[in-house]
Amino acid sequence: MEKTSQKLEKWSTKNVVLNVLTYVLNAGILVLLFAGCLYVNQLAGVADAGDVLGKPAKVIEFSSLVIVLSVILFLYLFFEDRDFLRRATNSEMLFMIMELGVVFCFSFGAGERFSIFLKPFSFVAISVMFLSNRKTAIFVHMLFCVLLSVFDVFAASSFSITENADMLIAFLIMGITSGIIATFVMFNVYSRIKLFLMSVIVSVPNVIFSLVFIAEGDLISNIQNLSAGFLSGPLSVAIFIITLPFFESIFKRVSCFKFSELNDHKSKLIKRLITEAPGTFNHSIILSNIAEACATAIGEDALLAKTCAYYHDVGKLRHPEFFKENQAEGTNPHDDLTPELSTNIIKSHTKDGYNLLIRNGIPKEIADVCLQHHGTMPILYFYDKAKKFTDSEVDIKKFCYDGPKPQTRIAAIIMIADGCEAAVRTLKDRSRENVKAMVHKIVNDRMQLGQFSECEITLKELDIIIQTAINNLTGVYHSRIEYPKINLENIDASEGL
Ligand SMILES: [Fe+2]
Ligand SMILES: [Fe+2]
Repeated sequence: MEKTSQKLEKWSTKNVVLNVLTYVLNAGILVLLFAGCLYVNQLAGVADAGDVLGKPAKVIEFSSLVIVLSVILFLYLFFEDRDFLRRATNSEMLFMIMELGVVFCFSFGAGERFSIFLKPFSFVAISVMFLSNRKTAIFVHMLFCVLLSVFDVFAASSFSITENADMLIAFLIMGITSGIIATFVMFNVYSRIKLFLMSVIVSVPNVIFSLVFIAEGDLISNIQNLSAGFLSGPLSVAIFIITLPFFESIFKRVSCFKFSELNDHKSKLIKRLITEAPGTFNHSIILSNIAEACATAIGEDALLAKTCAYYHDVGKLRHPEFFKENQAEGTNPHDDLTPELSTNIIKSHTKDGYNLLIRNGIPKEIADVCLQHHGTMPILYFYDKAKKFTDSEVDIKKFCYDGPKPQTRIAAIIMIADGCEAAVRTLKDRSRENVKAMVHKIVNDRMQLGQFSECEITLKELDIIIQTAINNLTGVYHSRIEYPKINLENIDASEGL
């Protein structure tokens, strides 16, 4: 996810206090983790915990380095991704990934337990990339490798710096390289099998370094080191896959794997749409293609846009027959209702959809788009019908959706694509000129009614969305050549064609 698709919160005292607490708390956790590593090493007989923890100068030295690394992380986010920093839970997530990384690298690569080349360095890079973005993943991973070196130096878990400075540098380079390779080869990989295949490439630095140090050991340990180096990449991926659901649920993050799961036609609500509201399902499929193309065109999260499109109208499941696309020819239950009652049924589909999505554990950012996709637009058909029934003034507000207006670019894309798809479907002549005029009208109407006033979308982005929607819709509803009327019964096919 390169761009945020969440509504930005304002900086508040609460944000600042929570952020400070997060950084202080995690610096403390890292120091405690270090003490834990020392005691484990002592039990393994490779270090003396009292050697470090008994000397206040060493503890202060270690704590200072941890604080400096935490400040560097803060400064990076402050200058590079302030929106991400604004929510303290985001920093907490990064710290937790690094802390787990320390535990796993320590468990799999320290002392005499396993070969040190087994360390699953790339776990941190892969996790941060899938839960945040690639740039942050590379930075956090480099910081993590430095942190790991600090742990190694002070806990002497792998070696002592005075005796093995070359090995410390080698491990630092090995860790950084494997993480960076992971962020490049696994970028946009949405299949777990492919991740495991790519993990072999991620192991390459570990394998190379195990070969470099091969001359220094006996044959058995050399084979062990080589195999450990080879397994480090798959191990990183395995830990990532196991821990991902935990991060997704605790920090309310949605990875591409979750999106793939949600977009599967076998998922519960999609299956219900297919059987109970097939018209709405088809509309959602066309909409998902337009939304995905529009999101890609303006650099937004295409997978999120596609998923939002799939789920934007699930609220129609409550009364599918009241929506045009699900009505059989000649039947319209609105014929027996007042325009006010019809409006209430129609406009409740946004709120019903939101509640249904939240009840089914669908991420809130998708449910929010469902709630916002009609903004506060009026339902003109029933407003017009109501005017025909009376000579007095009709309050248009009674015929408007309850909102809120789109709060994000993704919600704006869904609003535009939804309006365009439904409107173009009604055109008898779907020539490019007509589609173009209709798309411009849909966007202009919404702009005139201030529907984009609460989201950070620019006129340039709206223009790109318009062009993309026109291209997409003319592609979907292109005119076909008429089939020639030839009777196949008159063709002799006895000798084959
Ligand atoms: Fe809708
Ligand atoms: Fe819709």
